[in-house]
Amino acid sequence: MTANFDELLEGFRSLLSTFDDGLVRDAVARIAWKMPARPLEPHPLACLRHLDRAAELAPGSARPLAQLLAQRRDDLHWGQTYSEADFGKTFIDNYGWLEVFGTRGHFVNDEVAAGLLILGPDIVYPDHHHIAEEIYIPLTGGTEWRMGESGFRVRQASEVIHHASDVNHAMRTGKEPLLALYIWRGGPLAAKSTITGTVSQGKD
Ligand SMILES: [Fe+2]
Repeated sequence: MTANFDELLEGFRSLLSTFDDGLVRDAVARIAWKMPARPLEPHPLACLRHLDRAAELAPGSARPLAQLLAQRRDDLHWGQTYSEADFGKTFIDNYGWLEVFGTRGHFVNDEVAAGLLILGPDIVYPDHHHIAEEIYIPLTGGTEWRMGESGFRVRQASEVIHHASDVNHAMRTGKEPLLALYIWRGGPLAAKSTITGTVSQGKD
């Protein structure tokens, strides 16, 4: 039997509709939401252990989606773009994403990819860039983000973060994990980022 993730797509869409932000509204309006499901085998990752804490930390509007992810974590097909050779074992054990829809996610969409990213505490996601434009909305606060030449700054849950095409960006989590919603559009949707940052996690 194929698992049904309609509730996941619905929850994702309804959370996106709560953001009073022009960029998000525009992205949501352009998404063709009637997407066929793509059957995928479950693929759990080590980083899923952070989902319970992320669901506790998520603000009210994001909590139902975070709880749904936590409940169904073992049925979902989680992915990693990088390997241990890129950023080390600590990173790989604390990193993963779920493509809700896109060219390889649980629902088929060739125009836009969107999903959720998990990073464990005390993790550095070094400077990287990609052709696709990216919108991030952290669902947990406390992570430091930076883009271009600017320094790191802490972003709260529900802030909308925009990474323009090919602009370097990086994240650094603090004492709590990061759960963040992402939307990718306008570029190769399954491309691996170009890494320009250093890979030390401090603990490696
Ligand atoms: Fe990115």
